[in-house]
Amino acid sequence: MKTKALYSGSFDPPTMGHMDIISRAAKLYDELVIGVIGNPSKKSMFTLEEREDMLRETLKDFDNVSVDHFSGLLADYVNSNGFNVVVRGLRSTTDFDYEIQMAHMNDRLFNDSVETVFLMTDPKYSYISSSVVKEVFTLGGDINGLVPDEILKRMIK
Ligand code: COA
Repeated sequence: MKTKALYSGSFDPPTMGHMDIISRAAKLYDELVIGVIGNPSKKSMFTLEEREDMLRETLKDFDNVSVDHFSGLLADYVNSNGFNVVVRGLRSTTDFDYEIQMAHMNDRLFNDSVETVFLMTDPKYSYISSSVVKEVFTLGGDINGLVPDEILKRMIK
C-alpha cells in the first residue's frame, strides 16, 4: 500500500524546525503533502499564497513532497484526499498535551485507516516557533540558521 502523509500548519514563516520534520517525514512516506492553513486566530506576516510559494521554493529538491492549502477541518481534507497518515512534530511536553487532545478528536473524525504519527523535533530547534522567530526578527535580532536562507531573504525584503 502506498503511504500518503500530510504535514499541516500555518508556516508563517516556515522554520528550520518545520524543515527538519519535513525532511524526515519525506523519507518515511511515499508522498508527503505540506498543507498550509490560514489560521484566522493568528496575525500573519505572509499571505497564504506567499507561504505556499516559499515552501515550494524551499522544498523544490524533494521529489515526493508537494504543497497545498486547505480551510475548514483538517479531518475533512484528510478524508477527502486519500491520506493515511498525519505527521505532527513534538517539541516538548507542552506540545504533547495539546497534540494528544487534537489527535484524539481527529481520530473520531478520520476515516478508519488514518493514523496520527509524531516525530520528536531535533533538540536544536525545540525552542523555536514561527511567532518567536518573527518577534526576534522584527526587533532586529539575529535569526540566521532558524529559517531557511530563501525565507530569511523574503523576510528582509
Ligand atoms: N519546529 C519549530 N516550530 C514548530 C514545530 C517544529 N517542529 N512544530 C510546530 N511549531 C510551531 C509552529 O510554527 C507554530 O508557531 P506559531 O504558533 O508561532 O505560529 C506553533 O509551533 C504551533 O504549531 P501548530 O500546532 O502546528 O500550529 P499551526 O497554527 O501551525 O497549525 C493546525 C495548526 C493547522 C494543525 C490546526 O490548527 C488544525 O488542524 N486546524 C484545522 C481546523 C481543525 O481541524 N480543527 C480541529 C482540530 S482537532
